[in-house]
Amino acid sequence: MAEASKPPSKLSGKVSIITGGASGIGEATARLFANHGSIVVIADIQDELGQQVANSIGSNRCTYVHCDVSDEQQVISVVNFTVETYGQLDIMFSNAGIISNSEQTVLDLDLAQFDALFHVNARGSAACVKHAARAMVEKHVKGCIVCTASVAASKGASSRTDYVMAKHAVLGLVRSASKQLGVYGIRVNSVSPSAVATSLSKRSSEEMKKTMKLYERLSSLKGVELSAEHVAEAVLFLASDGSSFITGHDLVVDGGLMKLPDADDFVR
Ligand SMILES: NC(=O)c1ccc[n+]([C@@H]2O[C@H](COP(=O)([O-])OP(=O)(O)OC[C@H]3O[C@@H](n4cnc5c(N)ncnc54)[C@H](O)[C@@H]3O)[C@@H](O)[C@H]2O)c1
Repeated sequence: MAEASKPPSKLSGKVSIITGGASGIGEATARLFANHGSIVVIADIQDELGQQVANSIGSNRCTYVHCDVSDEQQVISVVNFTVETYGQLDIMFSNAGIISNSEQTVLDLDLAQFDALFHVNARGSAACVKHAARAMVEKHVKGCIVCTASVAASKGASSRTDYVMAKHAVLGLVRSASKQLGVYGIRVNSVSPSAVATSLSKRSSEEMKKTMKLYERLSSLKGVELSAEHVAEAVLFLASDGSSFITGHDLVVDGGLMKLPDADDFVR
């Protein structure tokens, strides 16, 4: 086969779980991983959408499994399914995440929403890292774990306090797990995107356009809009041998974001 026509294969023979793989960043990563030779298990709660994505990737390369990451038993089940079906687990992309329905400023924190968000974004990530790492250790797999944090994981914000706090927790998880799992040859890293137009924000397409313009104004890189595919490429790097000496790292994918928007920035 001529060099130019060879399919890319940075993950040839690898088995991956992608949580939140039914849409947005997770979906883009599932497609990219499969194109690079990985078997992909999409773990999500949107059954119809997740199944559609898996079908469109192809049943020989991708499977959908219902898994609510806030329920530890369901995380155990998807990891067990993966190991029993495909022999081992090489890559866990812990990416599922939500935002609350309200702005969640400190003065107006709705603690029920706070708890629900922490259950998915922080506790869910911890469960995924825990059970992926156990499966890797048990099978002596020098695997890779990548978590989706956020630019809000290392900066304060004018709203979304619960989300900002949970993403800080994800960074703490990645840093601690990387220290504890290095002895097994398991690498643990995170990606921290700035704004990507996905269903996460629940904004209309008009509002989303304004948000993306605002982020461009606050970033040093101009003329490029961050997409789910850009983030997927960063995840691929962290999950592949190209990053084999990188662990405990937070790969920020933000076009040089200078600051998170304040309430004032949105009205300008
Ligand atoms: N879109 C952005 O601007 C942005 C920026 C920084 C970080 N992130 C993070 O990226 C990750 C992916 O978000 P996205 O932007 O692709 O949004 P998205 O809404 O398109 O995708 C999130 C996916 O997670 C799934 N999910 C939600 N709760 C779940 C649960 N309990 N168990 C399993 N799956 C669940 C959803 O069904 C959905 O498919 C999230 O962790 C988010 O916090 C997004």
